[in-house]
Amino acid sequence: MKKFLSRYTPLQIAMHLYAWSTVARLILEFATGTISVNPIQELEQRTGRQAITLLVLSLACSPLNALFGWRELLKRRRALGLYAFMYATIHVIIFVDLDYGLALSQIVKTVLQKPYIIVGLTSFLLLIPLALTSFDIWKKRLGKNWKRLHQLVYFIAPLVVLHYAWSKKGDIFTLQGDIIRPLIYGIVILILLTFRIPPIRRALASLSTRSLFLFNKKNQQPKVDTP
Ligand code: HEM
Repeated sequence: MKKFLSRYTPLQIAMHLYAWSTVARLILEFATGTISVNPIQELEQRTGRQAITLLVLSLACSPLNALFGWRELLKRRRALGLYAFMYATIHVIIFVDLDYGLALSQIVKTVLQKPYIIVGLTSFLLLIPLALTSFDIWKKRLGKNWKRLHQLVYFIAPLVVLHYAWSKKGDIFTLQGDIIRPLIYGIVILILLTFRIPPIRRALASLSTRSLFLFNKKNQQPKVDTP
């Protein structure tokens, strides 16, 4: 066990535990009969929320590395993105199978009637090529186009927030109803997108280099013994 654990960093262990926590808790709640009175809706909502959270975490890796120089975060981006896709897929399967019993005509009718489902579908379809090409072999094959393709995530994330907010009964202008949570996700994504703007990114990188320099300098100062 010790040998097995030593192969992973604490961040890696925390990430995998967090990613699987929703599946584990749902299974436990099903097994103990403590899931809500509307289990299908509960499953749909919790897998959807975990998908968007993991997506946001994967987007946060680059800016956090730029700010704090924590390079390991860059290595975790892919797994976080793939976990987000896994939850989005489970979310969609619950919708088409558990919610609609694979009744295709009914599904098509609902998709056409509810714009927030069209937005969800669009974001899911756009996530597929990103998940499929997230492996190193595709990075090599696609060259510069790989980066271009994966920049799609900055379009997908706001789409998912729109899907989330629209699925709620509420008013974004008067902040009534269940709109607060999607709004928080929206603000976080907006901040992360702002960090992508080149001058802001450069400012962030220089700020982090400067603070690291000051930190190192402070730690290298000779200690003065106090009497
Ligand atoms: C074909 C694609 C999709 C379909 C059909 C779909 C369907 C749904 C439905 C029916 C709901 C409302 C659940 C309810 O409140 O009763 C919902 C909510 C949600 N979906 Fe999706 N969705 C899709 C794609 C996605 C994707 C790709 C993501 C994230 C990456 C996502 C994240 C969410 C979130 C966060 C919610 C709100 C959960 C909550 O109420 O707390 N969905 N979706």
